[in-house]
Amino acid sequence: EKGGYPHFMLKEINEEPAAITATVSPRVENSLPELRIPELTDEKLRSIGTVHLVGCGTAMHAGMVGKTAIEALARVPAEVDIASEFRYRDPILKPEDLVIIISQSGETSDTLAALKLAKSRGVPVLAIVNVVGSSIARAADYVMYTYAGPEIAVASTKAYMVQLCVLYLFALRLAYARGQLTEEKTKYYTAQLLHASEVIKPRLADCEQIKYLASRYVNTQSCFFIGRGFDYALSLEGSLKLKEISYVHSDAYAAGELKHGTISLITDGVPVIALATQKNVYEKTISNAKETRSRGARVLLFTTKDAEVPEGVATEVIRLDEYDDILMPLQLIVPLQLFAYYMAVLRGCDVDKPRNLAKSVTVE
Ligand code: BG6
Repeated sequence: EKGGYPHFMLKEINEEPAAITATVSPRVENSLPELRIPELTDEKLRSIGTVHLVGCGTAMHAGMVGKTAIEALARVPAEVDIASEFRYRDPILKPEDLVIIISQSGETSDTLAALKLAKSRGVPVLAIVNVVGSSIARAADYVMYTYAGPEIAVASTKAYMVQLCVLYLFALRLAYARGQLTEEKTKYYTAQLLHASEVIKPRLADCEQIKYLASRYVNTQSCFFIGRGFDYALSLEGSLKLKEISYVHSDAYAAGELKHGTISLITDGVPVIALATQKNVYEKTISNAKETRSRGARVLLFTTKDAEVPEGVATEVIRLDEYDDILMPLQLIVPLQLFAYYMAVLRGCDVDKPRNLAKSVTVE
């Protein structure tokens, strides 16, 4: 059942290329993204006010990437909410808004309650769900399924990957419909998105390198992830993955915020995982990494192949292939998932069933 892999988590990470193809290719027609929801016409997309992205845990982190993509590509305001906050906050929702509910299982109780709240306010709800016929899929106005196949490991990996894909498809169609992207640019991004399944294969093949890296950090007590923009969204997810399965305490910070917070905790030997894949803020993140390094941090820098890394900033540099900055999260998440996986394995943890966590939480 694990297809020759020692754990479901590793099997599921390796299923990501197939999940991407299954999720994206049926939604591309004439090289353009198609949402395949008859009611969500381009005209309707043009009239959307604010997009609210709501979920729990990893699904909410996918929403962070979605927000960044929707704002960058379509210039439509987007908010991310934790479902359990949204449902009790009396959120400000307008009839022209759209609520996007994100859930792998489609059964998370807080997420379902958030959906019902949005509907009771008369706001249309689009659900991004992996399990066909689940409660959330049935209650939503529109559904875009992710085709990850069953996800068994408690820590979500391939489902997150395809949640990102659907959010990119949505952001691209929204941007195209609203004239924020030309047809040519939309086709370019759509082709790049389809190509993600190939882009991540070398990252999966790098697993021995990531395992070696993990072996050098296996006794870590506590660490930090930093990044800006898309890299901040990935910091949150990379950090969550690591702490939920390996029980290493970890915190994620927007790179520029660390010095307003807990930089005092950066002392000799504390690992700082710095994500610097975005060209527009590259120098800024590098300078934040340098600040931690000068306080004794061990800096693991994730950046792109051609980026120039100044002397003395990083203890280790992990290189990704060149790829469009906006889609880079699809490539970057793979080594972060593998890093968490190998840390957990080397620390002797029950990778697929971490203590006290459930795959789907159907009680409040
Ligand atoms: C948590 C799971 O309880 O629920 C997480 O442990 C998951 O892995 C979160 O991300 C949300 O679940 P779902 O099914 O709504 O995406």
